[in-house]
Amino acid sequence: MDARPFGPLDRRVPVVGLGTWKMESDDRESAIVTIRRAIELGLVHIDTAEIYGKGAVEELVGEAIAGYRGDVFLASKIHPEHATYAGTLLSCEKSLRRLRTDRLDLYLLHWPGTQPLEETFRAFEELKKEGKILAWGVSNFDVADLERAIEIAGEGVIACNQVLYNLGERDAEHVLQPVCERHGIAFVGYSPLGSGQFPTRGSWRGDVLAGIASAHGVTSRAVALAFLARRPGAFVIPKTARVDHVEELARAGDLVLTRSEIDTLEAAFPLEPPKSKMPSL
Ligand SMILES: NC(=O)c1ccc[n+]([C@@H]2O[C@H](COP(=O)([O-])OP(=O)(O)OC[C@H]3O[C@@H](n4cnc5c(N)ncnc54)[C@H](OP(=O)(O)O)[C@@H]3O)[C@@H](O)[C@H]2O)c1
Repeated sequence: MDARPFGPLDRRVPVVGLGTWKMESDDRESAIVTIRRAIELGLVHIDTAEIYGKGAVEELVGEAIAGYRGDVFLASKIHPEHATYAGTLLSCEKSLRRLRTDRLDLYLLHWPGTQPLEETFRAFEELKKEGKILAWGVSNFDVADLERAIEIAGEGVIACNQVLYNLGERDAEHVLQPVCERHGIAFVGYSPLGSGQFPTRGSWRGDVLAGIASAHGVTSRAVALAFLARRPGAFVIPKTARVDHVEELARAGDLVLTRSEIDTLEAAFPLEPPKSKMPSL
């Protein structure tokens, strides 16, 4: 599994991680076994959030990673309404308890809200000082949000920006991804498989993917992930609660697409003109 430096962190993180949104609705045992298999396969960046299943997903992740904590790069997110100074400290404590751990590797502001960023970031720094989080970042920040966040936090502090990014939604490539690269901020693509809306075989786009996939002996989803993670500083966090699916996705971790395959994918899934508002889910 290919790993690369994660923003300013002194740690390499695998390009493919594992999302957990809506896992509370999956078969619990299957979800837990899948998370453990993901870790074995090197998908150790596990992404969750306090709002997923109103805490139920953090509890599930906590159960899954018990005994594997040292291997995991554990990320959770705070709801922006909670992100006052005191609220951030409290939310983090609650997440740690549900996740059965004493530290998060990464703590993110889930999206820009109305609480002052200065307060949220001051709390993040306090949590860092106490060793309760090892790094922090943001999510769903557009270019203006991110530039303001950098102004407040300073350079080399914000670990990542986690944003919507998949074959049908490449808007971030226009400006946001280059801005992340320029500032040494990891670019983490969420919903990289289109949140379940993935091109099917029989459609021309689905067949383009399938053709490249069969040349490498992998699946179309693995090809999509490898394409999305093709730039340095980029990571993807697909979600699955099935062992067979995670085994397919893991193949993306060391799949190297040729220049001509990338050009073919560029033509099949072209970058649309820039949108006026950053897309998010
Ligand atoms: N920061 C944010 O605001 C934000 C927003 C959305 C998502 N996220 C994060 O990003 C993660 C990923 O995004 P997502 O959950 O929206 O969707 P996604 O990863 O784009 O797609 C997940 C869907 O693909 C299916 N799938 C996965 N592997 C498959 C395979 N090999 N074959 C067939 N189907 C497969 C999954 O079903 P199975 O489970 O049945 O495999 C699920 O229905 C989330 O879980 C979450 O951690 C963050």
